[in-house]
Amino acid sequence: MLLKASLLLVISQAVSDSVQAGVRRLQQPLMPALSSIEVTLTPDFNATASLPAVLDISLSFSPPDLPVNASLVELPFAIGNVPCQTYDGTNPMFAVDDDGILDLTIADDRQHNLRRWLTSRPTVGAVRLSMIAVPRKIDITTPIGPRIDLREIDGGLLGSASSMVPLPATPPHHSYEITVCWDLSKSPANASYASSLGEDLCTEIADRSQAIQALQSSIFAVGPTLHRYPPSSQSPEKSQFGLFYFGTTADDPFDVIKLADYIQALFINMCGFFHDSDTRPYRVFLRPSLRGFGGQGFLNSFMLEYFPNVEVEQWELEWLLAHEATHNWPLMDSNPGQVTGADNTWYNEGIATYYQLFLPYRFGKTTKVEFVKQLNMNLQAYFTNPTIIMSNEEVAEQTWQKSAAQRLPYHRGLLYFLHLEDLMRQSSGGKLGIRSPVQQLLERKRKEEAFDLSCWISLVGTAIGNITVAKEQYRDMAAGGFLNLPSSTLSHFDLRVVATAQERLELGFDTASLNSRVISGIVLGSRADEAGIKDGDAIVQTKSIWQVADDISRNMRMRLMRDGVAYDVSYWPRSREKVPSVQVVDAGLVDNHIS
Ligand SMILES: *[C@@H]1O[C@H](CO)[C@@H](O)[C@H](O)[C@H]1NC(C)=O
Ligand SMILES: *[C@@H]1O[C@H](CO)[C@@H](O)[C@H](O)[C@H]1NC(C)=O
Ligand SMILES: *[C@@H]1O[C@H](CO)[C@@H](O)[C@H](O)[C@H]1NC(C)=O
Ligand SMILES: *[C@@H]1O[C@H](CO)[C@@H](O)[C@H](O)[C@H]1NC(C)=O
Ligand SMILES: [Zn+2]
Repeated sequence: MLLKASLLLVISQAVSDSVQAGVRRLQQPLMPALSSIEVTLTPDFNATASLPAVLDISLSFSPPDLPVNASLVELPFAIGNVPCQTYDGTNPMFAVDDDGILDLTIADDRQHNLRRWLTSRPTVGAVRLSMIAVPRKIDITTPIGPRIDLREIDGGLLGSASSMVPLPATPPHHSYEITVCWDLSKSPANASYASSLGEDLCTEIADRSQAIQALQSSIFAVGPTLHRYPPSSQSPEKSQFGLFYFGTTADDPFDVIKLADYIQALFINMCGFFHDSDTRPYRVFLRPSLRGFGGQGFLNSFMLEYFPNVEVEQWELEWLLAHEATHNWPLMDSNPGQVTGADNTWYNEGIATYYQLFLPYRFGKTTKVEFVKQLNMNLQAYFTNPTIIMSNEEVAEQTWQKSAAQRLPYHRGLLYFLHLEDLMRQSSGGKLGIRSPVQQLLERKRKEEAFDLSCWISLVGTAIGNITVAKEQYRDMAAGGFLNLPSSTLSHFDLRVVATAQERLELGFDTASLNSRVISGIVLGSRADEAGIKDGDAIVQTKSIWQVADDISRNMRMRLMRDGVAYDVSYWPRSREKVPSVQVVDAGLVDNHIS
């Protein structure tokens, strides 16, 4: 999963455009061209008896010269289904400037999902804000969502700035000089710290025109049991790669060190593949949770979330890491005002799914047999997805309610890219593939040019030599039609696509039950019904739905509770009828079979 840095960017842009327009009418002059913000993060490990740790945040702004009633800072109410800090009630935000206390008024804009803090008088000189970010209380019913909330982990803290650091609404590319510092005066002597921005006590964000977005898409981690792999002692210059985890990993269901070695090697190869000369390190942060298994990309980093009690296989983790690492490069911006992701999620997730399969194979980190197996898992996951007929617009609306809909763009995008690769190879006599427009879109982003859907379609049109075909390909994919793959699609890998039929993913009860933790909507006659599951059973533990969706051979294993008695069930969460699907086979094997 990808944190919508670009989504955030667009939300703040769209809103700032309208807000700024309003503010401009009230206020003159405009903000100076370069403003500075100093952010200080002070983890407080002694705040209250009930909370092991909170994060004191202070922000110092260079004189904003705002009039009365102007928006000083803003923060979304929620990102996806995850609430942000609210800084109200008994835990408000405080502001002071050269004239002393500056009272702030909260103005909520539900329509734009934003809470704004307005000035109660004109500001005088520099403004300083302070607030306390409190870790979110989570339990087994907390739904899986964007991994941006501040959490307490093993006595430490981990969270993304997007959920807790309020920032000014700024026009696109407004330059900011932003410095972020840790203050460890309220931390135990042995506390360690790291963030997506770096591992020093203070970091200045180099790219000023993107500084707000960079800060918003950064993760911050601190705590007495925060560890780094490789240890700092082994990489004094804090080179290229670091994996951060809290506490001991002895109980974790996977080998952290093996995983770190895998991703480190892959990452270096990917830098080469995407012509990345940037030497900024890549960091992975581990977040244990009460349920779920997944990840999310942030600025030069990503968060891997896992539930220590649910077994995951090494290949699943490697997939996930390869997927998340890919998010570092190919990206499509959303259109102005488009906040649902309907126009670009298919690209960002689809291309990461495509390369998570192809790059490890290309770099010799997966065997051909493994590669084919993984490709087939992804293909079946698309064709057996119960939401396959939804358009990208419908998917975007339902994404946090229906986990199957949330997964769809990953595989729909993969199918689209496979098909496009074939078309491009055909029209160029095997010389061009999707790498060419993908790289060109990335170059546009690097040059701070537009890199949205219309750019993509024209790049594809040029590569195929037919803009009409490029438009049709996109339209068919976005509308949710059946995407067929010609049998020759993967012939350059000596593979053949064959039509087949497979069983649709069918839990046999409402997917909402996975959040409410009580079974409802059991479908009579389904395999879940046959396994003895009944409405009203409490869910104690389950495998992640994505884990069973991606692997058709897997059973859904659940621990349920009825009348105070726990019982385990295991059933195949698939329909009885089959739906049309495709799989790939070794071309040599097909010929043998036919002859
Ligand atoms: C501030 O804005 C609110 C509405 O947003 C308005 O009711 C109020 O009169 C304004 N106050 C001043 C001093 O302009
Ligand atoms: C926390 O408070 C206790 C007692 O108030 C004190 O002994 C301890 O040093 C404090 N720890 C930190 C990290 O400030
Ligand atoms: C820091 O000290 C705490 C006890 O005060 C201990 O539990 C923890 O393991 C120490 N962390 C490291 C990294 O040594
Ligand atoms: C582009 O493709 C369309 C649809 O396949 C076709 O009708 C048209 O002739 C093609 N145009 C060119 C310039 O090849
Ligand atoms: Zn992703």
